[in-house]
Amino acid sequence: MTSIIEKRISLHKRLANQQQETEALQSHISHLQALANIGTVTHMIAHEINNLLTPLGNYANLALKNIDDKLLVEKVLEKTVQGCERASKIMESMLGMANGKTQEKKNTQLISLVEEIFTCLCRDFAKDGITVKIEIPEELTVWAVPVQVQQVLMNLILNARDAMLPRGGILSIKAGESNDAVQIEVADTGCGIEPGNLKNIFKSFFTTKKDGNSPIEYSGSGLGLAFCKKIINAHGGCISVESIPSQGSTFKITLPKP
Ligand SMILES: Nc1ncnc2c1ncn2[C@@H]1O[C@H](COP(=O)(O)OP(=O)(O)OP(=O)(O)O)[C@@H](O)[C@H]1O
Ligand SMILES: [Mg+2]
Repeated sequence: MTSIIEKRISLHKRLANQQQETEALQSHISHLQALANIGTVTHMIAHEINNLLTPLGNYANLALKNIDDKLLVEKVLEKTVQGCERASKIMESMLGMANGKTQEKKNTQLISLVEEIFTCLCRDFAKDGITVKIEIPEELTVWAVPVQVQQVLMNLILNARDAMLPRGGILSIKAGESNDAVQIEVADTGCGIEPGNLKNIFKSFFTTKKDGNSPIEYSGSGLGLAFCKKIINAHGGCISVESIPSQGSTFKITLPKP
């Protein structure tokens, strides 16, 4: 009898010890994950800030060459201020992600997020032969971290633009909702994606924008879509793509309602 009790006591002790060890290992793993996240996020911050700085730099150059054009200089300064504000929001949001902090989700009007992206891109799409069609109901809102949804859409818009250069085409952004989710679609009539590449495009560092002797500014880092997927999954949503080579691609996002 005593031996059975002793065995049970020793078994309980071993169990308690193992539980402690498991907890210690789990905390070690989450620490390692946080470190790995910082690595990815550092790349992503560089990527997003580059998205912002490249057009701003071009704009500032234009202003320097036309320094007497007061209107132009004023516009460039305005864009610079907006760009700096966005850059600091992006930093905040991404460092938050790296620390594993949940950012504050808000009910946000989708159309105003999209309009802000186009202001921020400082690019006239018409100059590249691209017609932009936006069909988003005024009253449609998303339950999300606003700056992160903007980063996702900005990446999709920039990819769509790249896919349509130099011929031009149609960029269409649509959104609608069902009872439990909001659907957003970003479609282009660009080069499309080869079937063999489809399974890789959401992987970090996969890019096809490095071929030939394209100048540095045209080469990609392959982080845009990996970033989109990370953000959308963190919102409990999903992102998918349909594409036909030489005809175009459609990216679909589903964001659950709270
Ligand atoms: N709209 C699109 N049309 C055609 N191909 C696309 C489209 N979007 C993405 N791709 C393909 O997916 C790849 C990965 O896209 P992703 O945005 O992750 O990286 P990237 O655009 O190459 O570089 P980065 O975004 O880091 O500047 C692209 O290189 C391209 O081959
Ligand atoms: Mg990209």
